Amino acid sequence: MKGVVLAGGLGTRLFPLTKITNKHLLPVYNRPMVTYPIECLVKGGITDILVVTGGNHPGDFLRLLGNGREYGVEHINYAYQEGEGGIADALSLAEPHAAGGPICVVLGDNIVEKTIAHAVQDYKRHGKGAKILLKEVPDPQRFGVAVMDGHRVVRIDEKPELPSTSYAVTGIYMYDSRVFDFIKTLTPSQRGELEITDVNNRYIDEETMTWSILDGWWTDAGTFDSLLRASNLVAQGGANND
Ligand code: DAU
Repeated sequence: MKGVVLAGGLGTRLFPLTKITNKHLLPVYNRPMVTYPIECLVKGGITDILVVTGGNHPGDFLRLLGNGREYGVEHINYAYQEGEGGIADALSLAEPHAAGGPICVVLGDNIVEKTIAHAVQDYKRHGKGAKILLKEVPDPQRFGVAVMDGHRVVRIDEKPELPSTSYAVTGIYMYDSRVFDFIKTLTPSQRGELEITDVNNRYIDEETMTWSILDGWWTDAGTFDSLLRASNLVAQGGANND
């Protein structure tokens, strides 16, 4: 299975930090943010990785990551997303990289405490459809929220004002190659983006979506508060641990 790290977008919620560099190059404790999702994939057993970047500082990703060997990556590729068309728009650039096979996608601002290796193995056993990882959070209205019926996820609501559950959909997704066909049928949401939640809802509608609960802590790092929390969590115990 190949990996994709999505590090495009303009990071406007972190302005003015993002006036002078890309959000995913900002420090989280002692390392640039993007190195955590890369390490997450590598420790999950995925070492052929596409990094999708964007904005004004794409060359700095190459300066930081180079050929990826320092981070355990065997093959690294780069793609450039024009504008800020959304997570699904950024993912559409990964179609040649996926080359008809399954992919594991990690958002460039997501950081986890524990390895995702078990979830990856689990998905590989199925080998088709999609898989999402959920985490209970105190502030679900900031995220995609899984609506459950017993043990089944029946829908994902993107940033609902009144969340039906406290299960956030984390930014770690596994897809078969049909994900690119689904993306081609999407239309932009109210915020003008192609939403990954719309992609996930397609898999849910055709009953090929599975899910599990993510082990350990999980955080994004795309707001001032979550960026600070991410640094503190990493300082206390590291990330992507076995
Ligand atoms: O963190 C998990 C959440 O991420 C999910 O629960 C939500 O369902 C999902 O929509 C997303 O929510 P955010 O609104 O927080 O996503 P954000 O716009 O902050 O983008 C997250 C990362 O995705 C960003 O760090 C880089 C990548 N991205 C985003 C956009 C908008 C791109 O590569 N290109 C883009 O155009």
